[in-house]
Amino acid sequence: MSTESVGACGPFLMLKSILRAGVFLVCCTVACVPQNKSNGASATTPTGAGSASDDFSPQTLAAGRQVFRFDTFGDEQFWTDTARMHEVVQRSVSPATALSVGLKVDADAIPADVAAAIKAGKVDLADPATTVTLLKLNAVVGLKGTVTTVNGKDNLTRLGITCALCHSTVDDAFSKGIGHRKDGWPNRDLNVGAIIALSPAITPAQKAVYNSWGPGKYDPRFNIDGKSTPLVLPPAYGLAQVRNETYTAEGPISYWNAYVAVTQMHGHGNFSDPRLGINIRQTPDMVGPKLASLRAYQHSIEAPASPPGSFDADASTRGRVVFNQNCVTCHVGVNNTDNNSGVLHTASETGQDASYALRTANKSYRTTPLRALWQHAPYFHDGSAATLQDVVTHYNNFRRLGLSAAQQRDLVQYLKSL
Ligand code: HEC
Ligand code: HEC
Repeated sequence: MSTESVGACGPFLMLKSILRAGVFLVCCTVACVPQNKSNGASATTPTGAGSASDDFSPQTLAAGRQVFRFDTFGDEQFWTDTARMHEVVQRSVSPATALSVGLKVDADAIPADVAAAIKAGKVDLADPATTVTLLKLNAVVGLKGTVTTVNGKDNLTRLGITCALCHSTVDDAFSKGIGHRKDGWPNRDLNVGAIIALSPAITPAQKAVYNSWGPGKYDPRFNIDGKSTPLVLPPAYGLAQVRNETYTAEGPISYWNAYVAVTQMHGHGNFSDPRLGINIRQTPDMVGPKLASLRAYQHSIEAPASPPGSFDADASTRGRVVFNQNCVTCHVGVNNTDNNSGVLHTASETGQDASYALRTANKSYRTTPLRALWQHAPYFHDGSAATLQDVVTHYNNFRRLGLSAAQQRDLVQYLKSL
């Protein structure tokens, strides 16, 4: 995996805003998050750390879903004011281009007459103006546009991103890339790096890194430490009984949600983690008050069951025995992870590339909870296993398990059933 350093604040800085509460200056380009280590705010525990219980009332779940799908947390301050993505989209991103970089369209947000026109081939999918229309309809998953109409012409004036960008897809019911939302399903078609690389506000060196990631991957620390070891976009479903989120178990779900909302999406809010030396305060905090409903909503999203007929039930029953003999030391309990009892594993225990873990607070990997494996290939944090057979081959070789070909086949069928 390549590692390229472009320095914490990149070759050029932009003094961007003076914030009210702590009153400090923030430098922020695509390659740099606002860092404030000296405003005196005492943050001894990371934002969102600690246990919490969910309120699963219909009102809270509805509020959380609204946040997950549509809330930008004020991140237009970055995607519009700094990265100027609204200009790029209005000028050069047709629906065909958007779909080709993996963006998805929510068919339920398209009025029947527009849908019929698309079906009949009467809508120009090569025209960026159509993208602006879709944004006006709030129909592009994970993008939130503000469109003003002057003399009958639509103008995209603000653009922001939401959690759904990376953690939702659609079922393609209408056509490829256009369908009903699937919240929590990672968008493995989405080329986040290629999209960010369209911004006129980034350097050629940064652009090269963003373009190297490819579809379904993102590095949530590149703009912090300048290194690049991109991660596979993980599912946000099946996490109800998981104690620590992320491949490296940085903390519970609200910790990570706040981290991403503030440092990656560039929302307007607070995040601090003394372990990482990050302490960002922006008033008003448009992230913190939403974390509880966002957590409840994510915890309510169940992992999708394996489709009928997608695995061989008899082989799976045999494969379970193989799993219990070779895998349950780590993949234990209802979610198949020993991390609920606090355990982590160095990369060398499982034969993984250590470079991402070494950039994080814990320096190790969490045993990934196994859920809906049928749905989200490739596997492992860096996507190094393309298929479940590759996963089994990896363990068989690295841990010298000596599994026969038949045992391996059975184990794959069991994994498909999870
Ligand atoms: C630009 C893409 C992107 C956006 C936007 C994004 N995430 Fe993520 N998310 C990631 C990546 C990459 C990871 C893996 C990070 C890791 O494991 O270290 C991740 C990890 C997660 C996880 C942990 C999943 C697990 O297996 O433990 C959850 C939950 C999550 N994100 C929820 C959210 C929420 C809620 C938002 C909005 C506040 C959000 N994400 C916005 C890319 C994104
Ligand atoms: C020593 C502990 C350990 C053992 C034993 C172990 N695993 Fe894992 N497993 C992990 C860790 C840690 C990860 C995360 C690795 C990463 O992403 O880099 C993981 C990840 C996985 C994943 C990827 C899940 C995803 O969503 O990407 C699968 C599948 C998996 N293991 C299956 C197995 C199977 C099958 C066995 C038995 C043959 C096994 N594991 C044995 C610790 C273990």
